[in-house]
This record gives sequence, C-alpha cells and structure tokens, in this order.
Amino acid sequence: MNDNQPDLQDQESSGREAVLKKNIFAVASGKGGTGKSTFAINLSLALTALGHEVILVDADLGGADISTLLGISSPRYTLKDFIQGDVTYLSEILETTPSPRLRLICGGTDIVSVSNPYYQQKLKLIRSISQMKAGYIVVDLGPDITFNNLDFFNSAPVGFLVTQNMDAMILGFYRFLKAAFVRRLKQEFRHDDYILSIINDFQNRGWSHARRDLIGSIRAASREAHVKLESMLVTFQPKLVFNMVESSGARKTADQMFSFILENFGFRLQTAGFIPRDRDVERAYARNEPYLLRFPRSSASQALFDVLAACNLNCTPDGVRVPRFSDFLAYLKSEAPAWQLLKI
Ligand SMILES: Nc1ncnc2c1ncn2[C@@H]1O[C@H](COP(=O)(O)OP(=O)(O)O)[C@@H](O)[C@H]1O
Ligand SMILES: [Mg+2]
Repeated sequence: MNDNQPDLQDQESSGREAVLKKNIFAVASGKGGTGKSTFAINLSLALTALGHEVILVDADLGGADISTLLGISSPRYTLKDFIQGDVTYLSEILETTPSPRLRLICGGTDIVSVSNPYYQQKLKLIRSISQMKAGYIVVDLGPDITFNNLDFFNSAPVGFLVTQNMDAMILGFYRFLKAAFVRRLKQEFRHDDYILSIINDFQNRGWSHARRDLIGSIRAASREAHVKLESMLVTFQPKLVFNMVESSGARKTADQMFSFILENFGFRLQTAGFIPRDRDVERAYARNEPYLLRFPRSSASQALFDVLAACNLNCTPDGVRVPRFSDFLAYLKSEAPAWQLLKI
C-alpha cells in the first residue's frame, strides 16, 4: 500500500459524500494482464451501442492505455491535468471518440506521482466522477492493491473483478477482494474502536487463521454491530468476470470461490459471466480496435452480451430489453459505421 497519507486519516475523513452514483462501474482485477481494460472498453461500447451515453475513465494511473486501444493516439488532456489542478472540471478533459455517445477520460502515464495522488486529490476525483452526467460511467482501475484502487472500487456501486482461471490471477483476485472487503469494513465501523480493534487483530494474525473469526466476532460484539454488518454484507456484491476461459474448469472454480467467500466472509460474490479466450480478441487488440465492433459475431462478443444480460444491462435508455444476441447484433451494426471498421 503506498498512499501518501496515513490509512487512519483516510478512514476518518472519507465520508459518505465520496460514494458514487448507481450507474458507475469500477473494473478491477488485482493482477495485470487479465483483460481488464479490454473488458472495460467493450462493456462501454456495448452500452453505447444500446444507445446510452457512456463515459469511460482510464483510472489505471500507472499503466493507462485505453486511448491507444481505442486508436486515439494523442489525447489533448489526461487525468494528470485534473489531478495536478491544471483544469478545474473533469468535463474539460473529456475526449471525443468516433461514437458521439462514448466519451473518454484518458489516464496520465508520463508522471509517476500521478499514479499515487494525494488523499484530497483522490476524494476530489471520486466526487467529480460521480458528478459527471452520463447514462453510465465505466472506470478502469489499476491492477495493484493500493488504497487508491481499493477506494475507487469500494465507492462505486457496481464493481467488476476480472480474473482468469490461473493460480496467479486467482491469488491476485483474492488479495484484492480481501483487501477491499476489509477496507470497506473499516470504513463502515470507522467510529467504533472496539470493532476496529477486532479487524486490526484479524489483519495482524494473518488471513488464513483468523478469517472465520472475523465476521463471527463482529456479529457477536453488539446488536448494533450485527445489524450494520448484515446490511454491509448485502450491499458488498462484487461481480466476477472470468476472462480468457479455456475449459469448463472456470465454472467449477467460480462455484468454489462463491462458497468459500460466503462461508468465510458472509457476502455473495456474483458471477457476471465467462468470456472465452478468443483469437478474435487478440487480433482486434493488436490493431487497437474493439473486438465487439471488429468481430461482432465472435464468441467473446456473444459472451459479453451474456454478461450484459446477467447484470440486467441489456436494455436501451427507454427501458426496452434486448433479449437475444441476434437482436444485439443489430445495435452493433448501427454503431459500427462511426468507427469505420466493421463489415457485419
Ligand atoms: N477474451 C480474450 N481472449 C483472448 N485474449 C484476450 C481476451 N481478453 C484479453 N485478451 C488479451 O489479453 C491481453 C491483456 O489485455 P488487457 O485488456 O490489456 O489486460 P489488463 O488491462 O488486465 O492488463 C491483450 O493482449 C488482450 O488481447
Ligand atoms: Mg489495462
């Protein structure tokens, strides 16, 4: 963890005012290379194709690459300009894309310190993101388990976690999830020294030995703590996306993760979907083109549509549900000409 300000101050002052609106999706992973940015980009484009106004924010401040992956070579402004205070409003740094309904906030890569903004800058950024006007805001976070990424993830009402069915990726995923959960707990109980001491004790004793005690100890502490914990557990529902899936083993792993998390931490991990490893994704990626538009009939596109449907996002702004992938293709078809890369 390498925030510039102590954790406790973070806990004390990061009040409810920094909580984001419902239509904001954070995309995290806990490990680089899982396909997080690819997912964030294509999720944004899917929503755009359905007719929504979307803002895609590249908040992977250490490794921003979304503008490149969308073929936008030299953005005028980046988040660096906002974090450094060179511009006052995020709306000033919105970049257009070939789609009039998709706008982009590019990440800043050229200054290392930007990847670790000061605490007040971070709060300002979270608040400003929530004030932007859009149908949906998709925030691509960095893969590291830093307070910045955890706080962005926790403040977004919907958090996607992208992983792969490989030990190193699953480990990164668990580490991120555990850290986000504990941080959320600390935030929730920030005024309760006794519960904070239970959480700190849990952290100090190590995760494998103490985990079963944590939830039980908080539940047992007081009626009030019990009620507060239960309502937090209901709202903490990260959505799991398995990417680059090569076998049915991923479904089994997802089931095991669900049971493990529910048993040990008491919250329900939601499975948003399984996106196969698909050559078309790699081919589109290599050309800096979104696979959803370049290869709309690919198996990854179909799987992304299934994710939309599983999350109840397969609707137009008027609330018309798009029930089948074949219907969704028609939306992609009308979105594609703006990008000049599609022959459906
Ligand atoms: N479903 C997929 N099938 C095949 N390759 C994929 C898939 N999703 C992502 N990739 C590849 O994985 C690599 C990393 O993707 P990227 O989105 O940049 O990851 P991250 O943002 O997590 O670091 C890219 O080469 C991309 O083409
Ligand atoms: Mg990325």
